Amino acid sequence: MLYKLIKNFSLKGNNFNYKITFLIFKFFTTIYSSLTCFIENIFFKQNPSNKNFKQKGIFKQKLKSNINEILLHSDEYHLNEYMIVHKLKKSELEQLINLVFNKKMRNKITKITGFKYSLDYFRIYENKHIKVSDYKNPTKRVPHFDKAFSRNMLKIFIPLNIEINSGPLKVLHKSVKARPKRYETNIKECSYLLGNGEFLYGMTPNICWHHEGNPLKGKTAKQIMIQLNPSKHWCFREDLHVRQTSPENKFPSFYSLFFRTTKII
Ligand SMILES: [Fe+2]
Repeated sequence: MLYKLIKNFSLKGNNFNYKITFLIFKFFTTIYSSLTCFIENIFFKQNPSNKNFKQKGIFKQKLKSNINEILLHSDEYHLNEYMIVHKLKKSELEQLINLVFNKKMRNKITKITGFKYSLDYFRIYENKHIKVSDYKNPTKRVPHFDKAFSRNMLKIFIPLNIEINSGPLKVLHKSVKARPKRYETNIKECSYLLGNGEFLYGMTPNICWHHEGNPLKGKTAKQIMIQLNPSKHWCFREDLHVRQTSPENKFPSFYSLFFRTTKII
């Protein structure tokens, strides 16, 4: 049954099986998102979230020091024609986590969102230009929200070389409920994640529609993405470094019962 569901789901297209499977998947993930949110609010919520974050579902902070300086030795891994993953060694990754999530930043994030977190997935990726003729390619970037996660799940993005022509990630604020028709649609209720290693953005991808753009020819969009799930204390998964090129883990609140973490001090 589960195998059949996954097989159908992988056959993207307009066929009837896919649509039915998608509806079943959406139904279960909606229950999962609401239920985990409810449980996390009871057990992990430290304080009410800040008013601005509650309204928009996104926040921006300036980092203490520029992140690009410690990313000089990453290894390139070509995930597909349009994306490079920049892998860090275990020690470099832990150095970066301690630098970004220093005590001051951890307190700021908790004050904004109301939670302490476990860092459950980490990737540095670089989007390349997609030719218009290749738009039917399965790697195409479409507006979406992250389904198989808690409504409280937070994603941290640190843009490393991104300006408006690099196809930045566009995040629609929480108040926008309709699926955006086009990336270029200019509305006030959205944020473009821009920066050169000096800013950190936090957003709730289960609630906010988001859409990666297409960098102009000759440009790329390189950024750090970290998945954070509410936790008793600030920590990170011990196997973060070995999963940098693997797909992002889904249903993390459930799987968190089975993996080891290291406390961030
Ligand atoms: Fe996403």
